Amino acid sequence: MTEKKLEIVKPVSVNKILQMKHDGQKISMLTSYDYTMAKLVDEAGVDIILIGDSASNVMAGNSSTLPITLDEMIYHARSVARGAKHALVLCDMPFGSYQISVEDALKNAIRIVKESGASAVKLEGGKRVCPQIKAIIEAGIPVCGHLGLTPQSVNEFGGYGLRAKTEEEADRLLEDALALEAAGCFAIVLEKIPATLAEKVTKELKTAATIGIGAGMHTDGQVLVCQDMLGMNNGFAPKFLRKYADLHSVITTAVASYVSDVKEGKFPSTEEQY
Ligand code: KIV
Repeated sequence: MTEKKLEIVKPVSVNKILQMKHDGQKISMLTSYDYTMAKLVDEAGVDIILIGDSASNVMAGNSSTLPITLDEMIYHARSVARGAKHALVLCDMPFGSYQISVEDALKNAIRIVKESGASAVKLEGGKRVCPQIKAIIEAGIPVCGHLGLTPQSVNEFGGYGLRAKTEEEADRLLEDALALEAAGCFAIVLEKIPATLAEKVTKELKTAATIGIGAGMHTDGQVLVCQDMLGMNNGFAPKFLRKYADLHSVITTAVASYVSDVKEGKFPSTEEQY
């Protein structure tokens, strides 16, 4: 009798992410907002799937992340959690869901985990959100921080440019990163900051992994918006974005072929009917 080997794929845990940092193993993170994409991304082996509030732009066509609601984030996260068998499922807390009070932040983080099946939450900001972060972690929910370009504060900064360009801003960012680590964050997204600063922050942090987007090669991991790296949005090409496919052209070519087949009576064929 031949013995059948069962391959058990353990879901990625927060401890595994920290172990990866410790071992110098790079961490891969991608966004997903729906079941189908999450399943594909998960099968391809990504470590963390982020239900980013970029769903506001990518899924709903808004010009910022500000309008997306907690209920909408929970809907996206629930769909993603059903598709992810291996990756750690991390959900953004949307604008307005954690700024009002510690109690409100805790209540909303619990709603996300309870109603969506996500394992961890991410929120933007440094020292000023540490009380919220501590309360959420205290309740048993792992938290990822987010520093540098924090799109929920677009109206405070007035744009989406490079952050922490001056020495003073860089020092403040490092202080914020250390405060997030002390508050218990298992990871911190560093968005659009100079590579040298991201490297310094990564070296200083011992128990929080850095995940960069537009932050250079020295962070513990990288994150991109899935639709961007698949080339679905041909109008978006910032310097930090590497496009791994040109799905804009693949999809529009396929759809144009379908439209012309329908119009010319070439679809369906006799083999494609009952
Ligand atoms: O919302 C998002 O997609 C994000 C990533 C860019 C890190 O926060």
